[in-house]
Amino acid sequence: MSKNYSIAMLEGDCIGPEITVEAVKVLRAIESRGEVTFDLRFSPFGGQAYFDCGQAFPEETKKVCDEADAILKGPIGLSFEDSQKIPVDEQPERGALLPLRRRYNTYANFRPVYLPAELAHFSPLKASVVEGGIDLMIIRELVGGLYFGAKERGTNADGKRFVHERLEYDEDQIRRILIVAFDEARKRKKVLHNVHKSNVLISSVLWNEVLAEVAEDYSDIEVKQIIVDAAATALVLNPRQFDVMVMENMFGDILSDLGGGLLGSLGLMPSACIGTEKSYYEPSHGSAPDIAGQGVANPYSMIGSVALMLEKSFGMGNEAKQIWEAMRAVFGQGFTTRDLGDPDGKHTFISTSDFGDKVVSALLSF
Ligand code: NAD
Ligand code: IPM
Ligand code: MN
Repeated sequence: MSKNYSIAMLEGDCIGPEITVEAVKVLRAIESRGEVTFDLRFSPFGGQAYFDCGQAFPEETKKVCDEADAILKGPIGLSFEDSQKIPVDEQPERGALLPLRRRYNTYANFRPVYLPAELAHFSPLKASVVEGGIDLMIIRELVGGLYFGAKERGTNADGKRFVHERLEYDEDQIRRILIVAFDEARKRKKVLHNVHKSNVLISSVLWNEVLAEVAEDYSDIEVKQIIVDAAATALVLNPRQFDVMVMENMFGDILSDLGGGLLGSLGLMPSACIGTEKSYYEPSHGSAPDIAGQGVANPYSMIGSVALMLEKSFGMGNEAKQIWEAMRAVFGQGFTTRDLGDPDGKHTFISTSDFGDKVVSALLSF
């Protein structure tokens, strides 16, 4: 008897639905092998959901997510102008995405920054810097820090507008993400870069204290300390010195987008958001309003998020590997999407939907 998994499908905004279609093709291709079935439950979520249902994270969607085995989410968010049509607290980032993360306590965000050697020419870095490819894993704490701390906005006694946003962490929140990072380092090259700002922030001082305690259980892992601003430069000058990097929420938000820049496009950035009981999967990037509706978005990030879901939520590591292989095969055949450009003059641009079709053909040929 084949296994059945239910997946809450949150297509999101702008390019979200376009790249979700391609993820569905891949799921159906996996299904066609007869070992597993996927019950896909499409539910409104994001800016469009706010306009259609009056809420960016409708109650019905919460129910579908609660019942699902995993959640696959497209990017949400609107153009700057369209966002202004929604009250600040209900804009989809604050009104849907952060509440989704909070609801399922998805504290461990895996953001792989990966470009195999044969695709290294897509990186804007010099060939000599990326020779051999890029392969690092950013582990970002996802439910603490500045994004989730208490906020206050007001007017002070002098009539001046002010804001307070608190950067909050407790030691348990820090410990659990560090354990995830040490475990990942143990599976990979046994080197962990700890990215912090303990020269200024006392949150980083506590983070580093807890790290020293956790490290006692991981004597086989070499810990390397790097301050976040220096890490940004080091990532550009020599990304190949890194393997696993761990950091708090906002540092991870910023450096993971830098990671997309190292690869040549955010379209190559999938992610896994692992929770205590439920996990969800989404591209690291946004809804790309600038290219929505043109059929040119790169679906790699969304299809890669499917691969991460199969591996991490459903124990389907082999199928996940085949999805990565299938995507490499499409590039290997000389095809790419427009965002990556054609740095070596050997590629033909294909649409979002052609890319998905070619991934499926490759997958079915294995
Ligand atoms: P963005 O990531 O949407 O786009 C940045 C650039 O990368 C754009 O030029 C875009 O065209 C390009 N890009 C991104 N994904 C691509 C893909 N798959 N294929 C080809 N090109 C791609 O960042 P932004 O413009 O700052 O944000 C747009 C909206 O997305 C905002 O509302 C923001 O809050 C939201 N956002 C949502 C998420 C999420 O849902 N997890 C993440 C980041 C940003
Ligand atoms: C991301 C995004 C989100 C974040 C926003 C849209 C809330 O930038 O997933 O990286 O800042 O975490
Ligand atoms: Mn981001």
